[in-house]
Amino acid sequence: MPLLTILPRGKIVQIPAGTTLLAGIAAAGEKFVTKCTDSACSGMCHVFVPIGKKSLSKPQRAENEVLDSLAGVSSRSRLACQARIGEQDVTVELLGFASG
Ligand code: FES
Repeated sequence: MPLLTILPRGKIVQIPAGTTLLAGIAAAGEKFVTKCTDSACSGMCHVFVPIGKKSLSKPQRAENEVLDSLAGVSSRSRLACQARIGEQDVTVELLGFASG
């Protein structure tokens, strides 16, 4: 199973391929607030993926539309509720929604 590394704390969790980044982040015990789990509606789960982006599922139209509406988006941006991990390890960087 691929490893998901979560920055800035550096937590590492092993999750099955096909799992969303959001579920993997939650499995690692990171706390965050979203209003719209799994629906790509608010963009509150915006993360950067500095390593392993090619291992993720391709962004669909709904995700791209949400990302287009957000500030601070880069080529490393994904919505954690939409991106599913593949067979390779991935590193994500939590942005403003991460806490405690
Ligand atoms: S949880 Fe709302 S866009 Fe991902």
